[in-house]
Amino acid sequence: MKDRQLHQTEMIWTPAKINLHLEILARRTDGYHDLETLMVPISIFDSLSFTATSDETLTLSCVWEPGIEARQNASRQRGVESPWEPLPPPGQNLAWRAIATLREEAQIRAGGHLRITKNIPAAAGLGGASSNAAAALLLANRGWDLHWGTERLAELASRLGSDVPFFLYGKPAICRGRGERIETLGTVLPLHIVVVRPEQGLSTADVFRCCKVPQRPRSCEPMADALRRGDRTAVAAKLHNRLQSASAKLSSSVVRMVDVLQQVGGVGYSMSGSGTSHFVMCRNHRHAQTVAGRLRSIGIGAVFQTQTV
Ligand code: C5P
Repeated sequence: MKDRQLHQTEMIWTPAKINLHLEILARRTDGYHDLETLMVPISIFDSLSFTATSDETLTLSCVWEPGIEARQNASRQRGVESPWEPLPPPGQNLAWRAIATLREEAQIRAGGHLRITKNIPAAAGLGGASSNAAAALLLANRGWDLHWGTERLAELASRLGSDVPFFLYGKPAICRGRGERIETLGTVLPLHIVVVRPEQGLSTADVFRCCKVPQRPRSCEPMADALRRGDRTAVAAKLHNRLQSASAKLSSSVVRMVDVLQQVGGVGYSMSGSGTSHFVMCRNHRHAQTVAGRLRSIGIGAVFQTQTV
């Protein structure tokens, strides 16, 4: 470690994402699906910091935000499911695995401490774990003074999870292949979005296992065009998620969610990723406040008033 400069890196905010369009193109022989999806980062954030150390220990502290733990306990006491699932043990934490893999591939002797405070619900289709993993790679790359370029990091990221490369770029993008081939879209108009994560979550693998490959896949170009033109009405009209019916087969929460979202007065709604989170598109900030208020009063899960970032 003598020549390597260690940096104490800063804390960063890691965003969630939603899928404005998600189409399945084919089932693959490696257990994955080829897809085309258009994802945008949104303003629900976890926070993550990484401190590089000169010993070889990699440690992780990962906790829910304090307010969330209180809500989890309250659900437990009432004997109902909580939208805030228990966090996985450190060995299964994707961000921790990301930096362990980076260290191995870079063949360095170094350690570090990763600290994550979570706010993004898990098993939700919001990409929280993938976002943490991408941020951990970026910070460890700096903290360990590795100078890997984005493309080299993205190759490693794609082996960790299909959504991880998207978060390395952190911009609205069309994602193809398993989700790891990224075409960024540049700046797009801000969208006012309300996200709701019902009490029940779903495993991504279970949802993909139940999905059907359509005979005539829907292209994401009309959605990309609508975004580039800044046409919110067209964006709302073109929302599409092919995994929706698979998730509805697996979770009564998803079926109920659709009933509720039809009645809350948004300009459009869809499911994010493999669910169970859904989102409502709104005209502006004030409209989003109204929609979020309605959803909170129905009491259908965790509600977030957000924007694209
Ligand atoms: O890539 P990731 O680990 O997030 O994927 C979790 C699971 O979701 C995979 O094991 C696979 O079963 C399914 N999946 C898929 N096709 C994709 C992405 C994920 O079938 N494009």
